[in-house]
Amino acid sequence: MNEIKIFSPATVANVSCGFDVLGFCLDTIGDTMVVRKTKEKGVKITKIEGAKLPFEAKNNVAGVAALAILKAADADFGVEIEIYKNIKPGSGIGSSSASASGAVFAINELLGKPFDNQKLTYFGMKGEAVASGAEHADNVAPGIFGGFTLVKEVSPLKVVQLPTPPELYATIIHPQIEIKTSEARAILPKEVELQQAIKQWANVGSLVSALYDSDYDLIADSLNDFIVEPHRSQLIPHFDNVKKAMLEAGALGAGISGSGPSIFSLCKGKEIAEKVASTIKKVYQNTGIEFEIYLSKVNAEGIKIINKK
Ligand code: HSE
Repeated sequence: MNEIKIFSPATVANVSCGFDVLGFCLDTIGDTMVVRKTKEKGVKITKIEGAKLPFEAKNNVAGVAALAILKAADADFGVEIEIYKNIKPGSGIGSSSASASGAVFAINELLGKPFDNQKLTYFGMKGEAVASGAEHADNVAPGIFGGFTLVKEVSPLKVVQLPTPPELYATIIHPQIEIKTSEARAILPKEVELQQAIKQWANVGSLVSALYDSDYDLIADSLNDFIVEPHRSQLIPHFDNVKKAMLEAGALGAGISGSGPSIFSLCKGKEIAEKVASTIKKVYQNTGIEFEIYLSKVNAEGIKIINKK
């Protein structure tokens, strides 16, 4: 195989209660990437469409991740990468991690699949760090593994794959403003109160249990964020109105997707997800802020191969 074309999906990190540890993978929005073997070693980004991003491999998240996996494999070839972005940078649905995880997934295929998903997430995280200024894998892991993931530790990296209840859909609104992850991290408190922390980790535990049991009521009861959302929601125009509307339309829960500005909801079944979509459209269309709405089943598969030759 000399060339591979892949679909690298958007992802939702944090999932309300699980700041920096939980994430899930989307299906209907994502980037396309083509990765081609070259005789010359190293990484060349030859095309970027849909976003203004650096072409120098060492400044590009896909480039850095690609260099990391090629070095670890001691590959006797290099790669050319074409990136077709549909996920806007700074949207909060894992734009940079889709590029990073897509690059490592594709190169692993070109290498003959020597690395497992844990290792691929590690290489992807190296790229993701270029964009966010911190090593976190909660967007990279769900792209690589598919479905829901929990990053138990970053160093050494340990990802736990969680089950995906079959009827889970996500409805997401992306107000067209940009929030830099590094800035959204800088406003967070350095310490949290014990009482808040207790509530938060109780919710993480119950959400994980609910995913195993496909217990939609317990999912709904667990999607709370006492620690991060109160701070970051101030950066997102009309956050409270949108969240309230999502819940009133029947969503199981709603919160900030990653570091925002996207707001996600999880719903039981497509019908409710569609109702949530039309309700939030009404809330946002009078705000004067442009927006996109995405509706997607939770993608249990992760990155998909479009073709290879
Ligand atoms: N967990 C990270 C954060 C995800 O919320 O800062 C960034 O998309």
